Amino acid sequence: MKSSAPIGIFDSGVGGLTVMRKLIQTMPEENVVYFGDTARVPYGNKSKETVLRYTHQIIRFLETKQVKAIVIACNTASAYALHEVEKEFSIPILGVIQPGAEAAVKNSRNQRIGVIGTYATIGSKAYESSIKNINPHIEVFNKACPLFVPFVEEGMLEDILTDGIIARYLQELRNAHIDTLMLGCTHYPLLRTSIEKYMGNGVVCVDPSEETSLKVQKILQINHLLNSQNQHPKYEFYVSDSAQKMVEFANMIMPFQIEDVQTIQIESF
Ligand code: DGL
Repeated sequence: MKSSAPIGIFDSGVGGLTVMRKLIQTMPEENVVYFGDTARVPYGNKSKETVLRYTHQIIRFLETKQVKAIVIACNTASAYALHEVEKEFSIPILGVIQPGAEAAVKNSRNQRIGVIGTYATIGSKAYESSIKNINPHIEVFNKACPLFVPFVEEGMLEDILTDGIIARYLQELRNAHIDTLMLGCTHYPLLRTSIEKYMGNGVVCVDPSEETSLKVQKILQINHLLNSQNQHPKYEFYVSDSAQKMVEFANMIMPFQIEDVQTIQIESF
């Protein structure tokens, strides 16, 4: 494996760009291949079997791009599929749950942590088990917030309607006196300002992509695969449906403009 090989990253759709954004901020010299499963999003209300099958197909696709490591940016796919696929494939595969849990535990002083995510992520209790594995005394308060995803995709990051839905979902976590809130879904970091405003000063929001990026960097370093001399990193974008949505969303949140997005038949992998 060459250090110039790209890092593969995938999500159920466009939201994983929040993780890619953090990844390239941490490692600006790395080449990256992103896949967004825009034809089959959302994963958050699908079964474990389905998400596992999709994850297998995507990993097989990314392998054709000779990636040196894979990041599962999607919290739902991390929760449902990481444990299976990390044993099956020889390249390093990382999810966002364990790094996110470590960051949350490190932050919490009062040992009361809130976790928000899709129905699937919350139902899997993946964050809760990872947090309790690190420190069994921590109390975890879970809440599925399924409507946050469409609000973000509509670009309603700071909006009176968004504030209303935030209050509706998060009131019970605010009343639970948590001091740390895990943003356990790719889209939620984009609502961070609005969520922080509602939760107040005593609550720190944790974006799992920060710790995940550091972990990827460490694994590449250990394996002598860091691409440290690359002045012109290459980013490739693939989706399973029309490219338009990806282009629009990427140009809303990424630090550069994206034009070239290719549509592939993910079912054939
Ligand atoms: N990417 C998903 C996640 O982080 C959110 C969108 C979906 O439900 O697919 O869980």
